[in-house]
Formats: sequence, C-alpha cells, structure tokens
Amino acid sequence: MQTTSPFNPFSPQAAVISGLFTMALILMGIILLIVAVLVVYVSYRFRASRQQDGEPFQNHGNRRLEIMWTVAPGLLVLVLFLFTLRAMHLSDPYVPPKMQPDLVVIGHQWWWELQYPKSGVLAANEIHIPIGKALLLRIVGADVIHSFWVPQLGRKMDAIPGHPNHVWLRADKPGKYLGTCSEYCGAQHAWMRIQIIAQTQADFDRWQQAQLEIPPQPTTGLAARGLQIFKDKTCENCHTIEGVEKGPAIGPDLTHLFLRKTLGTGILQNTPDNLARWLKDPTGVKPGIHMPDMRLTDLDVAALVAYLETSHE
Ligand code: CUA
Repeated sequence: MQTTSPFNPFSPQAAVISGLFTMALILMGIILLIVAVLVVYVSYRFRASRQQDGEPFQNHGNRRLEIMWTVAPGLLVLVLFLFTLRAMHLSDPYVPPKMQPDLVVIGHQWWWELQYPKSGVLAANEIHIPIGKALLLRIVGADVIHSFWVPQLGRKMDAIPGHPNHVWLRADKPGKYLGTCSEYCGAQHAWMRIQIIAQTQADFDRWQQAQLEIPPQPTTGLAARGLQIFKDKTCENCHTIEGVEKGPAIGPDLTHLFLRKTLGTGILQNTPDNLARWLKDPTGVKPGIHMPDMRLTDLDVAALVAYLETSHE
C-alpha cells in the first residue's frame, strides 16, 4: 500500500485532522448547494419576461432575514473554530521541555538525515518506526527551511535551521507511508520524498540491530577496490561509512546503503545499475544536487557499486 491520501489516516493524530477536513468539506458542500439552488430559483422566478414593466420588484430591508444571515454564518464559524481547536489539541499533543525525541529528522538540500538518539542509529531517507507507539520527532533544517509531512500519520511540521520543532508520529498498521518535503526549498524540492516504513516492534528491533552492526570491510576483489576509491576520491569528506570514515553529514550516511530501497531520496530504485548511473552522472539524474561529478571511470563505478551494494559478509 502506497498512498498519501489524507482521507485514509492511519494514526489518531491524522484521523482527527482528516475528520475536521471532511466535516468542513461537507458543511461547505451543503452551503454551496443552498446558494446554487437559490441562485437558480431566483433567476427563474424573477426573470425579466415575467415582469409587466421590465423592472423587477425592488425589495429593501428585511430585519429578520438580515439577522438570520448574520447569525447563521457566525454560528457556523464558531462551530468550525471549536472543532479546529479540538483537532489542533489532539493532533499536536504537548511536548514536555527537555523530553528526548525518539527520532531527529534533519532536512538537507535534498535529502533527510535521520538520528535515533535512544539507540544511536544513523540513517537517511527511509524512516523505520515501530507501530502502535506515539514517537516524538524533532524536526530541524540544516540549510534552508524544509517541511516534514506524512499526511496519513500526522500533521505537517516545518524544518527550520537553528529552531527545532517537534511533532508526534504514530502508525497503527505496518506498511509504507509516503510524504514529501512540503516547503519549497530549491531545485530538487520535488525529489525530497519521505518514506515511513512502519513495522512490528520485532521487525523494527531487527532493522535497528542491522543498522548498528558495522559491516566488515572487504580486503579482496572488486569491493576492496571500491573501498580504496571511496577513500581516494575523498567521498568521506561528505559521506560517513561506519568503520571507514566518519565524515560530516553533508551527504547521506552510506554504511548500510545496500539495505535501502531507493537512491537520491526516492528518485531511483536502489539497484546496482541505478547506483552506477547515479555515480557516473549525479546531476544528470538529479539536476542541481550538491554531489559533484567525480569523473569516475567505468571500472571505478563498478568497483564502488560492488563495495556499496554488498554487506561484505
Ligand atoms: Cu526540502 Cu522542499
């Protein structure tokens, strides 16, 4: 299942937002219907051909009607306001100060850095969470303002540099939930996809364990050559590979790239062929991105793919 429909919520927070939206939509639909019917009725009932002298009867002032059409919309706005307050309260529960988040999501141009402070897991782009639990997310921007939104699981939250925001996220059923960056942030804003992989606690624990394992580094074959190229080409100036080099998170952590389903924050499926395409011409695949073309030879690319796509076990 892969939808982003806000009409199909999978968490209490998203359900309350969806409920408010549906209620407002129905109310507005009813009003639209009343207005449309009245317009058609009045156009027909008072059309010029039925008037004796061409000019329809002019009706001025009707206190009862005027009170009605002032009070009725006022009440409607009040009702919507109260339901909105309730939805805001339920979709955005209070966060005690200094509460440690379950997950820190950092928006970069154009990918998501993920830190799980309670376990120490570092990841990118594909967000694994256990089901049935409200998780506290801290949302930050690394460079410009991004916005984190997975419509089926919760509310939208801006990722602002230097100003952490918090949002509660919860999924009640295992599955994949999609979202996107929801604040225009530059050339590749559209390819800043969010994937939430909601799992049972046991599956999540297994994933977390796999992320914590530092893969042994290859010593022979094409993969060993790939590791050497990774070092020689200074890839580690932007990317971390645990057990090799801890770089700054300018680009995504590549330690467990072979476990991810996508490349380029959702633009390509993670296959050896696609990774080769990516390494050969990153800006050809995703124009404007900060990863430079390293002018790799075909052999370099094949070695890097062999290195990055295998678990070295
Ligand atoms: Cu990040 Cu739009």
